[in-house]
Amino acid sequence: MKKIGVLTSGGDAPGMNAAIRAVVRKAIYHNIEVYGIKYGYQGLMEGNIERMEIGSVGDIIHRGGTILYSARSEAFKTDEGQQRGIEQLNKFGIEGLIIIGGDGSFRGAQKLTEKGYPCIGVPGTIDNDIAGTDFTIGFDTALNTIIEAVDKVRDTATSHKRTYIIEVMGRDAGDLALWAGLADGAESILIPEKQEDFSTVIDKLRRGHKRGKKHSIIVLAEGVGSGFEYGEKIEKETNLETRVTVLGHIQRGGSPSGSDRVLASRLGAKAVDLLLEGKAGRMVGIENNSLVDHDITKILNEQHTINQDMYKLSQELSI
Ligand code: F6P
Repeated sequence: MKKIGVLTSGGDAPGMNAAIRAVVRKAIYHNIEVYGIKYGYQGLMEGNIERMEIGSVGDIIHRGGTILYSARSEAFKTDEGQQRGIEQLNKFGIEGLIIIGGDGSFRGAQKLTEKGYPCIGVPGTIDNDIAGTDFTIGFDTALNTIIEAVDKVRDTATSHKRTYIIEVMGRDAGDLALWAGLADGAESILIPEKQEDFSTVIDKLRRGHKRGKKHSIIVLAEGVGSGFEYGEKIEKETNLETRVTVLGHIQRGGSPSGSDRVLASRLGAKAVDLLLEGKAGRMVGIENNSLVDHDITKILNEQHTINQDMYKLSQELSI
């Protein structure tokens, strides 16, 4: 293999730049030409492709977002769109492609691989919702962004003796809420994977209030529903003054944490190794701090699961 391509797709995640850097530098280290494809699969179909050099990825390891930009492309889900993408890759003589993104992006990688075009997936999403890897790039940074925000909310919550619902991202997954809730000492953590009874949530709030607690924090994953609706229900039921904070896209930005930079560097470099070994249709991941790779179709058919022990612990500590 003499020429490879790299693109980022779907929701951006802090650390994607560190992964791009690792792909580009590792490839050049092995005397392979690298091409950056801008705006994900959309840019691929449009031939928005340019050669990357060592300097193209200088001064980006600490930056959030993605220098290759991103997109969610409906057109690429079609056979015709994928064919257009392959034509562009052939035009540039690109022999293998590294895709940094989430499960939607991996479906594109799966399709291209089925059509005979070797692809490797690198898990990059703040949601941490992909099977076959303990962590996805961006999760740790987003988690720390949430923690910082909740610490601030806690100050004002205490001053006013209020209950706060913090709605966090995660799409259908509860990892961000679970980890943030545990790290923030939340009263309740509401995630799609484990519905806590409304009455249990209310009981905890009342008990805390009786004990003289000055504030209560409930972390709610967006996959459960609207934080505002939940907040209204809580206030109605308890008569405790309640406010809702939806953290939104703030969670996707910012300089990647040390863990994310290291993870992204390791996964990006491993993806290049796999292409050079002649592998295709694989996703790189990290399990028990060791690099692994799995069949991308198998990963797409598997469900990411939450850590049950952590959930149990969060309940034991929020009595
Ligand atoms: O997948 C990352 C993510 O930030 C999810 O947590 C969220 O549900 C979604 O993307 C938001 O997507 P968009 O940026 O398209 O609104």
